Amino acid sequence: MNPLSAPGLNEACQAEGLPWRVAVVAETASTNDSLREQAAAGAAAGCVLFAEAQTAGRGRRDNRWLAPPGQDLMFSLLLRPQAAVYLWPRVTTLAALAVCLAIEDQLPLRPLIKWPNDIYLDGRKVSGLLAEVAGAADALVLGIGLNVNTRTFPPGLEGVATSLLAALPAPGVRWLDRQALAVALLRELDRQLQRIDEGFAEAVDEVRRRSWLLGRQIRALVAGREVFGRVLDLNAEGHLLLALPDGSSLALASADSVRQVV
Ligand code: BTN
Repeated sequence: MNPLSAPGLNEACQAEGLPWRVAVVAETASTNDSLREQAAAGAAAGCVLFAEAQTAGRGRRDNRWLAPPGQDLMFSLLLRPQAAVYLWPRVTTLAALAVCLAIEDQLPLRPLIKWPNDIYLDGRKVSGLLAEVAGAADALVLGIGLNVNTRTFPPGLEGVATSLLAALPAPGVRWLDRQALAVALLRELDRQLQRIDEGFAEAVDEVRRRSWLLGRQIRALVAGREVFGRVLDLNAEGHLLLALPDGSSLALASADSVRQVV
């Protein structure tokens, strides 16, 4: 169970020309909260904070993000996108693609994106993303939780959550190297986030090929309203296109929750 090494991650970033300055802490409440404080204090873009443990890890809609210490990856990046603010929602789409590509690069796994911000393996959640506007609305904090080595999940999450190790078709493997995975994630995040303006439509094509929701009947919660429909496609903006029961169609830019209905 090797701890993550900040010097090792920074050396890799320097060697590859990546813009990240990485810190690793043994414990914090939430890496998103720490970086939001740094953003408010004027920290520059490119700060990345990994935590071996979080005492108040957060997901969307005030859900908690739970992970045992030292086994998985929990980190946040401070971004100050140069692109126009109306393009910032694209960050979640690009980051989801980056997480998939990093996993594919490192392991014989085929992760899928459950729009808008979950990554699935074998129909279970392996990773979640949380992008939050920060500072004086002049920064974004992107938080990523990725279950890497966890094998047992808290009550209520068995059957719903998985880890890379649990999904790996190699029962002999007992531990996955988080450092190599972290470097792959930082590399792909840099590559994909550059597509926020030019190249976004092509990125959506890659997301579409990895979409877990395509063709499924879903129930989405949008601003307190339930929407039922069948997922037809993603449009060029990465929004979810639904066929509604009355025959009309609807594009969802975001949703508070999305569930498959059977
Ligand atoms: C979700 O699934 O709703 C998003 C989960 C995001 C969890 C990560 S872990 C690192 C970062 N710090 C947090 O408090 N949350 C994000």
